[in-house]
Amino acid sequence: MGFDEVFLINLKRRKDRRERMLHTLHEQEISCKIIAAVDGKALNVSEIEAMGIAMLPGYQDPYHGRPLTKGELGCFLSHYNIWKEVRCSGEAQE
Ligand SMILES: *[C@@H]1O[C@H](CO)[C@@H](O)[C@H](O)[C@H]1NC(C)=O
Repeated sequence: MGFDEVFLINLKRRKDRRERMLHTLHEQEISCKIIAAVDGKALNVSEIEAMGIAMLPGYQDPYHGRPLTKGELGCFLSHYNIWKEVRCSGEAQE
C-alpha cells in the first residue's frame, strides 16, 4: 500500500476496539504494529507536569470551545511517541 509500517494505537483497556481494528486490517491484508496508547484519563496532574506539559492559558478548542480533555492529551501523546520512534528509526537507517 506504499506504507513502511502501520501502527495501531490502542488503549489496553479497550480490547473490543483492538479486536475490531485487527479484524478490519486482517480483512484488508494489512499488518500492523500494536502500540499501547497513553491513557489520558489515567494521568494525574503531577504526571502531566513531570512531562513538562502545561496548558496554554485560556486555550479553547475552536470546535468545542473548551480546553483539551485528558483523553485528547493521551491521544496526542500516543501519536507523539510514535512520531519520535519513527524519527529515531529513520535516523538509524541513514
Ligand atoms: C500520580 O500517579 C503516579 C503514578 O501512578 C503516582 O505515583 C502519584 O502519587 C500520583 N500523584 C497524585 C498527586 O495523585
